[in-house]
Amino acid sequence: MADLSETRREFDLWADSYEEDVRKGLGVLEGHDQSLAKATGLLSVKPGQSILDIGVGTGAFAALFEERGAKVTGVDLSLRMLELAKERHPDWPLFDGHFLALPLADSTMDAAISAFAFHHLETAERPDALREIFRVLRRGGAFLLVDILFTDQAAKDLARHRLGDQWEEENYAVFPDIARAAAEVGLAAAFTRLSDLHGAVLFEARER
Ligand SMILES: C[S@@+](CC[C@H](N)C(=O)[O-])C[C@H]1O[C@@H](n2cnc3c(N)ncnc32)[C@H](O)[C@@H]1O
Repeated sequence: MADLSETRREFDLWADSYEEDVRKGLGVLEGHDQSLAKATGLLSVKPGQSILDIGVGTGAFAALFEERGAKVTGVDLSLRMLELAKERHPDWPLFDGHFLALPLADSTMDAAISAFAFHHLETAERPDALREIFRVLRRGGAFLLVDILFTDQAAKDLARHRLGDQWEEENYAVFPDIARAAAEVGLAAAFTRLSDLHGAVLFEARER
C-alpha cells in the first residue's frame, strides 16, 4: 500500500499555501482551475443530488458542483486540508478517509468526483479504489476523475519534456492503464483530454 502517513504529512504541510500555489499555476498543476471548469460539464448532476469528493482538499472542484445544486460530502486524508475546507464550506460533511477506505455506507451517494489526487495511489491499488468508490455509489451513479493523466505514453513524454525542471515525477497514469483497471472491476471508462497535462475519466457501471 502507498505510504499514507507520508502523503498525509506532505499535504498537511502544503495545505496553507496550496491555493496560492495553484493560482501561480506552476508545474504539473498548470491550468488547474481551467481543467476543473472544463471537467464539470462531463458529469450531469441534478439539484439536490449528493456528490462525494475524494481528496477534496480545500474544496475547489466540489464547489463547482455545489453551484449546480449538488449536496457535497468531502473525504481527505489531510486533517489540515479538511480544516481549511470546513472554514470555506461550513455546511459540508467532511471526513478523514482515503480512496481505499471511504467512511461511508454502501449505496449512499449519487455521484463521486476526485481531482488531482488519484496519482497518489499505486498502480495495483487503482482497481480496489474504483471498487470502493462504486461501493458507496447508488445504482446508476458515476465517478468523474480529473488528474495529471495522459492519452498515452507519447503524450506523457512530450509533457515531461515541455515542463523540464518543473516536472515532478509521480505515478501519473496513461489512459490505457486506467481503462484496464476499470475493466478489471466491470466499469466502462471514457477519457477526455483537458490539456497537455490533464485528463478526465468518467467511470460508469457497464450495462448488464
Ligand atoms: C493536489 S490536492 C487537490 C485538492 C483538490 N481536489 C483540488 O483539485 O484543488 C490533492 C488532495 O488529495 C488528498 N489525497 C492524497 N492522497 C489521497 C488518498 N489516498 N485518499 C484521499 N485523499 C488523498 C491530499 O490530502 C490533497 O488534499
